[in-house]
Amino acid sequence: MISYVINGGKELNGEIKNSGSKNSALPILATAILNPNPVVFYNVPDIDDVKTTLKILKVLGCKITRECDKITISSFNLKKTEIPEELMHRCRSTVILVGAIVGRMKRATFSFPGGCNIGARPINLHIKALKELGIRFTEKQNKIICATKTIRGAKLQLEFPSVGATENIILSSIYAKGVTRISNAAKEPEIKDLANCLKKMGAKIYGAGTSNIKIVGVNKLNPVQYKIMPDRIEAGTFLCGAAITHGKIRITNTNPSDLSNVLYKLKEIGCDISIKNNEICLKAPKKIKSISISTEPYPGFPTDLEPIFTALLTKAKGTSKIEENIFENRFEFCKELSKMGADIKINKNGREISIKGVEKISGNVVKSKDLRGGASLVLEGLAAEGKTVVEDAEYILRGYEKLDEKLLSLGANIKIINK
Ligand code: EPZ
Repeated sequence: MISYVINGGKELNGEIKNSGSKNSALPILATAILNPNPVVFYNVPDIDDVKTTLKILKVLGCKITRECDKITISSFNLKKTEIPEELMHRCRSTVILVGAIVGRMKRATFSFPGGCNIGARPINLHIKALKELGIRFTEKQNKIICATKTIRGAKLQLEFPSVGATENIILSSIYAKGVTRISNAAKEPEIKDLANCLKKMGAKIYGAGTSNIKIVGVNKLNPVQYKIMPDRIEAGTFLCGAAITHGKIRITNTNPSDLSNVLYKLKEIGCDISIKNNEICLKAPKKIKSISISTEPYPGFPTDLEPIFTALLTKAKGTSKIEENIFENRFEFCKELSKMGADIKINKNGREISIKGVEKISGNVVKSKDLRGGASLVLEGLAAEGKTVVEDAEYILRGYEKLDEKLLSLGANIKIINK
């Protein structure tokens, strides 16, 4: 088991470089399956979810080379169309590979990705949309087989602006016969990044980043070199780390416009924020003010930063409220924060928490339950008096590149242990 051991009370001061986006890298790696020509991606984060996705691409027959953040992939000899069950369960977001596999090979076999600690994570919207594109689904020994002779463009309406379902539709309709239209599409910046990468390959995609996306089927894609966007959730995590430790931080290679709502909330709690090109500087206030947050699809406040802000608000003056409108079980980590002295009440059928700010947070042994909940415990440990051990840190390694090294470079007292 891997743990972070943190001795709290140190300010985070200094500069870090924003890594490439996990939630953009995963769908963009899937484009390598669609494109039989060599593709080169830059700014790919070195995190476990990327490693798992690359393992699957290798199993399918892709040739992959990696030099630091540069990954070269050739799927010319793509043979297999089945995603190994064990790898699918290790990283459930690999469900977006299905769209790319069936888009290229007209067939894909996979297993239900299963839920995780933040919710059931159904894929009904993915399946409904792909069926409307003419893809047939059958179940055999708890595997799902999807197949078709021809993928036909269709008019699709998403009941909910699902990020993964939007990505799966785009990937599976690149070579479709005719035009595919998605209404109520997800508008997250990662959707735009995926579309920009595909358009650079020669795909015809219009309106990515809005609720209405149009994909005109093409017959081929060209070789491409593409740099993945910065990780807005990592940036938000480090900004909150500086805020909770009364520090001062500069984040470079970031995209401030992806974080407008988050920067607004950080100003509301009293942080001094300045933006210059692709840099964000934050100076923490002496005392954090309490606020209210309601998570929404982009451009609303991102659900992935809800656990991170919860840690921050445990030390605010007064009582804050956070309403979680995206996932049904995102508050598991609150019990762990309470072991450190946080005063959090879960109400309104588990969809809202009230956080009463406390003077003192004390170190303790706590357990990560999911990626962002685990990161929230690390931040709480940075602000706590004494020693904190964050166990099951494997969850955190899935989505944060060199988290301990970056925090150490900012003055934190943290080490990673493997026992
Ligand atoms: C993506 O997950 C992100 N993951 C999540 O980040 C992020 O929290 C989420 O989008 C929302 O922004 C990746 O991009 C790899 P959704 P995804 O489909 O695609 C329901 C992180 O920490 N839903 O937009 O799974 C679903 O249950 C992760 O980096 C259905 O009901 O999110 C949820 O309540 C966590 N049926 C809501 O929609 C479906 O078929 C949002 O899910 C699909 C989704």
